Order: sequence, then structure tokens, then C-alpha cells
Amino acid sequence: MVQGSANLNTEVNEKWLQEYIDSWVDFFKKQTVDGEVADYIPILARADQEALGISIIGKNGLTIRSGITEEKFTIQSISKVLTFIVACMERGLAYVLNRVDVEPTGEAFNSIMHLQISQPKKPFNPLVNSGALTVSSMLEGKTSDQKLETLFLLLEKIIGYRPELNIETYESERDTSMRNRAIGYYLLEGGYLESDLGITLETYFKQCSIEITIDDLARIGLVLSNDGFDPYTNEEIIPRAISRLAKAMMLTCGMYDASGKFAAYVGIPAKSGVSGGIMAVVPPRVREDDFPFLDGCGIGVYGPSLDKQGNSIAGIKLLKHIANQWDFSLF
Ligand code: DON
Repeated sequence: MVQGSANLNTEVNEKWLQEYIDSWVDFFKKQTVDGEVADYIPILARADQEALGISIIGKNGLTIRSGITEEKFTIQSISKVLTFIVACMERGLAYVLNRVDVEPTGEAFNSIMHLQISQPKKPFNPLVNSGALTVSSMLEGKTSDQKLETLFLLLEKIIGYRPELNIETYESERDTSMRNRAIGYYLLEGGYLESDLGITLETYFKQCSIEITIDDLARIGLVLSNDGFDPYTNEEIIPRAISRLAKAMMLTCGMYDASGKFAAYVGIPAKSGVSGGIMAVVPPRVREDDFPFLDGCGIGVYGPSLDKQGNSIAGIKLLKHIANQWDFSLF
């Protein structure tokens, strides 16, 4: 479905845009068979492996959606970008970066290795679990609900409503996540946790269990594409410096040990989640060519069939194809 203004920089007919994207979703949907739905958080195994949907929202008001577009799913690791932004807004960039570095690990999202071999055990970046738990621990507030209130308010400002917390998903991860507890104890040993481990884990499991849609992800991506400003009201929602650092983290660390390939072959900041979401940011580009969304857009993808890195297998292929067809790459 194509909505919004048709003041594209090209004569491309909105009908053609919809036909293109429908055909691409149909094609890459077939490749969901090559992945697997996550089941280490038991409730995630209920997802439809064949599902694939995309929403692209442009600064020019044009919105294109295709495939499974209404599904609500949990944000999972995409929340790490938002808690990083909130922590930087609450504590200041210097405070946060003193506790979490900005280096990719090249490891799986829940790896402990870099904490064992690096001194002084400082988490490498805010988008792997060790960095995300450190960030969750420094959010202002004593209880997990107090710590997440600013995140909910930020989300409400961007997506236009206060999202729900999926309690079933929260409890499913709370009751099974041994790995995150192990990471938590490493962080406690290294002196990086600023809250009680129990509160930190509860905060993290809750933030991962916030329910969103691909439209919501596209709207978040669009604000980041616009350097933290709401593209329609021009209100600054996220300070520019924080928005830029968040995009840099997404580009270098957002797809974990597939971040290098994603940056090379797709070329835009993106963050994946283990329930199959991807949030991507297409900044404005200086181009004379006939491409849609030249003044930037945000993209939300849902495809719960995952590759070995825990990223949406068909979602990545769909984004790579669209980025090449419509010249989204930064490079
Ligand atoms: O911590 C976990 O394992 C999940 N709550 C989030 C992991 C995740 O989304 C990885 N991204 N693909």
C-alpha cells in the first residue's frame, strides 16, 4: 500500500513502486525456508517462519508497505539503540562512553569472550548484550518500570502512542535466560553495573519485550534519518550528537557478526532483533538520479526466520535488494 504525497523526485508512478516492492517481498519470502525462528526464548517459537513484511516511511510523507504489515512483535535488541539514546540523554555522552566502548566485537550478540580477554572487561559497544545490560543498569530510576519510563515516553513521542509490554515474552525470557545472567555476573565482577543485577536484568528483559510494528520501526528510523528531528514538526526529539552516534553504532555493530557484510553490501545503519525485526535508517542523499526517498526515509522489516547470526534471513536480503535498486547506500 502506497500512501502520502507523490512529490517524488522522479516521475516514478506510486503504482509502480508498490508493484516493485510487492514483487520483491514475494520473491524473498520464499527464502524464509533457509532460516529458523528463534526458540531459545520459548515464546518466540510461535512466530510464522514464512512471514515477511516491510514499511518504508519517507521524509516526503510517502509510505510504502508490503507483505505482513500489521503484525505486532517484540522489539528485542532493537531496544538497545533506544536505551543507549535515553542513557546518553539522561547521563550525557561522556558518562555513558566511559562505561561502554564503541567498538564492534565481531562476535555473537550474547558472547562473553570479549569480556574475558579484554581488560578492564569494559563492554565493547552498547548493541551487544554486555553493553546493553550495562546501559540498562545506568538508566535513571530504582525499579525497572522507573528505569524504562523515559524510554516509553520517547517511543510515544516518535510513534504516536505508548506501546505495550508483552508480559508473556518478558516472563519467557526471564525464566530461561541463563546467558544474560552469566553476562550480568561478569559485568558485576568488572564493576560496570550501576544497579542491582536483578533490577538490571528485569529492566533489560522488559525493554526487549516492548511490542511494536514495522510502521513504528520505520518512524524511529525516519527520526534518526533526520538527525533526531521529527521530519514533520521539525521538533528535536533526540539531540543531534546522540542521534549520529546511535547511527554509527548501528552501522558498525547493529547486525553483530554480520555487521561488516551488511555495511559493505547494504550500506545503511540498521539494528536487528531476534523476533525478526530490523530497523534501518536511510539518510538524505545528494543525488540527481531518479530514485524514491532521496530526502531520506526510515525502514521497518519483520521476518522471524533468522540466519545463524540471529538476523532476519529474508529481511536482510530484501533490504540489500532495495538498497541496490533505489541507491540507499551511504557509500
Ligand atoms: O537478550 C536476548 O537474547 C534477547 N532479549 C535479544 C537478542 C536479540 O534480539 C539479538 N538480535 N538479533
